[in-house]
Amino acid sequence: MPENDLLTIARDVAIAAGDLARRRREEGVEVAASKSSPVDIVTHADREAEALIRGLLSDARPDDGFFGEESGAEKGTSGLTWVVDPIDGTVNFLYGIPHWAISIAVVEGEPDPLTWRALAGCVVNPVTGEMFTAAAGEGAFLGSAPLRVADAVELPHALVATGFSYSSDRRARQGALIAELLPQVRDIRRMGTASLDLCFVAAGRLNAYFERGLSPWDHAAGALVAAEAGAAVRGWDGAAASKEFILAAEPTLADRLQDLVMKTGV
Ligand code: IPD
Ligand code: CA
Repeated sequence: MPENDLLTIARDVAIAAGDLARRRREEGVEVAASKSSPVDIVTHADREAEALIRGLLSDARPDDGFFGEESGAEKGTSGLTWVVDPIDGTVNFLYGIPHWAISIAVVEGEPDPLTWRALAGCVVNPVTGEMFTAAAGEGAFLGSAPLRVADAVELPHALVATGFSYSSDRRARQGALIAELLPQVRDIRRMGTASLDLCFVAAGRLNAYFERGLSPWDHAAGALVAAEAGAAVRGWDGAAASKEFILAAEPTLADRLQDLVMKTGV
């Protein structure tokens, strides 16, 4: 199936899940359980949205695999897998901060970001209505407007976003890195939704984004949007982006930031 047809499916399913999650948010949201740490939470809406997405995708593409944050992985027979975060930015969702997203990507190969090839991806913020999309080789879009990363800037002029792990040990190290970085860049943003951070790099609203410990469903769609908008999207020390590390920026800035982060360590 051509990438653009896969993208149409991703887009339709993301809109349906976004409508559901937005309704649940309006009704009021409570924590259903905590996961890897007391601050890593899931709401009933995360689970309900993932069940809806899983069902719609399996109706549309019964032979494809599925890999979602809340309900785990299931292998398919087609060689394609849908990688889904039903609500990225769950803490924003819980607090009513209107900056969270549905992230849906379809990848070819094993569902491992070190080796997969992303074919299409869609990130929707159901509160603002912004929809970011990309298909491999076809460019990235916000609605129907093509996206392009911001022009090259030196580090002191770079607005850099990052995110923090749910593990407090790792947070302590991430805080130390930010203390090093903050005096050397324009400013730091921690907005709480990695998929949107990546799309904001694509849209030139941020110069760069990096994070350590990010799960595959958080970046599968957004990384394709950023790459298709001209960003370099990289992992640690030349590897592909993965849970180990992800950095997305205009390519010359990506080199400078990567040197700095690797020198300082995370
Ligand atoms: C989180 C967000 C956050 C990032 C975390 C992710 P979730 O995803 O994307 O911005 O810093 O690493 O886990 O838990 O809200 O789906
Ligand atoms: Ca999530």
